[in-house]
Amino acid sequence: MSRVAVFPGSFDPMTNAHLDVARRAAALFDRLVIGVLNNPKKSPLFTVDERIAQITEAVGEFGANVEVAGFDGLTVDFARSRGASFIVRGLRAVSDFEAELQMAHTNRKLQPGVDTVFLMSALDYGYLSSSLAKEVAQFGGEIAGMVPPPVADGLRARFSTRG
Ligand code: PNS
Repeated sequence: MSRVAVFPGSFDPMTNAHLDVARRAAALFDRLVIGVLNNPKKSPLFTVDERIAQITEAVGEFGANVEVAGFDGLTVDFARSRGASFIVRGLRAVSDFEAELQMAHTNRKLQPGVDTVFLMSALDYGYLSSSLAKEVAQFGGEIAGMVPPPVADGLRARFSTRG
């Protein structure tokens, strides 16, 4: 039986912490679909298409079992549409746990056949967040160690054109 997982997120933008979780999840599952949420409640820096392009380039070396797609609505519906029985999420610190536990229970209630699997973020990236990377980039700080190269290019382009 093929084990399929989705790794959902805003990924605005993908950080090296997300990339590390994606790499490890790709090795754990037969198929991994990275889902970029189109959230009408948020005003993202990058469009869903831009984020999909950045992530697709960043995960290019992971192998053919990794796919990147946008989605609307519920994560469990996205999981079902992809034939996935697992949702992958990364945990950076204890502070992530409460919200993630609530999400995992909600998703389980909505769709008992889909289980959430947590991977601990690599220690090196435990401090990282998309917001932090954006703030550093906005003020001209070095982001090379924080985000994958296609994201770093996108951030530099975005903030240099904005002045
Ligand atoms: O990268 P993020 O912002 O921490 O990801 C959060 C995400 C996209 C996983 C979460 O907001 C989500 O699943 N949104 C889709 C709506 C949904 O399924 N809500 C119910 C479960 S909490």
